[in-house]
Amino acid sequence: MDNRQVVLKLSDITMQFGGVVAVDNLNLLVHKNEIVGLIGPNGAGKTTAFNCITGVYEPTNGSVEINGDVVIENYPKGKMKDTYKGRNQGKYTKTLAILPDKVTKLGVARTFQNIRLFKNMTVLENVMVAMHMNQKASVFGATFRSRLARTEEKAMREKAMELLKKVDLYDNMNDLSTSLPYGKQRHLEIARALATNPTILLLDEPAAGMNPQESDDLMKFVGRIRDEFDLSILMIEHHMQVVMGICEHIYVLNYGGQIADGTPEEIQANPAVIEAYLGGDD
Ligand SMILES: Nc1ncnc2c1ncn2[C@@H]1O[C@H](COP(=O)(O)OP(=O)(O)OP(=O)(O)O)[C@@H](O)[C@H]1O
Ligand SMILES: [Mg+2]
Repeated sequence: MDNRQVVLKLSDITMQFGGVVAVDNLNLLVHKNEIVGLIGPNGAGKTTAFNCITGVYEPTNGSVEINGDVVIENYPKGKMKDTYKGRNQGKYTKTLAILPDKVTKLGVARTFQNIRLFKNMTVLENVMVAMHMNQKASVFGATFRSRLARTEEKAMREKAMELLKKVDLYDNMNDLSTSLPYGKQRHLEIARALATNPTILLLDEPAAGMNPQESDDLMKFVGRIRDEFDLSILMIEHHMQVVMGICEHIYVLNYGGQIADGTPEEIQANPAVIEAYLGGDD
């Protein structure tokens, strides 16, 4: 029996846009401290799956559990009841929606496929803004310019510097984010996600655009932060060297559908996976 703790569970997640089923009945588990890969050709539905987990989209059907609680659930209703092309219609009967900031508060952080740093800010400021956004509901808002707010800012600055030390960006803290080499910008993106104190980290193509050396560094970096920050990680990635080198379990999507899941060895030997990759444009 597998008695590892499940921290993220997707059940029958389907996301339909008009007539397009972008994610078709995805079932996926992430266990505590596991690094899980989500792969598939372009347009397979990987980012859409992330958007369903993080409250950006409300899935059309299915549920998402975070740390054992169902926090997202939906079923086809209204016009979608008739146009729904996915499976398991009737299985889910509740609607539970959640906004992205609430998902962050539940300990889930993400990075984006395209780097989304604040270009005119330093490395340190980028991390501080992420921390601040996470605390925006606190009593001491940005507009409350009291001594308390300044004390809070000082504490935040120290916490941000601490974090930068752990992710090898301390020496760059006063550099403009855009002046960093590309690989380090990707690290900064991850540092910003870490600034919200996540237990679950979702990485959308962290090695995109990296050269072999940079992706090798990134792979080691992801392993290191998993240990250091006690994280469970779900990672979308096209660099197979990275995926096969670091993921303990891999899920494969093709045209929204889940075509395989297993260990790196199992995935590499799976005929449906080989066909999906060789048959596509990639
Ligand atoms: N908001 C939306 N409205 C309509 N269609 C969408 C929307 N978001 C995604 N799609 C469609 O869903 C499908 C899956 O897109 P998605 O971005 O999830 O793919 P992906 O696997 O992340 O691809 P890539 O590897 O290129 O990033 C695509 O056909 C896309 O056009
Ligand atoms: Mg994508």
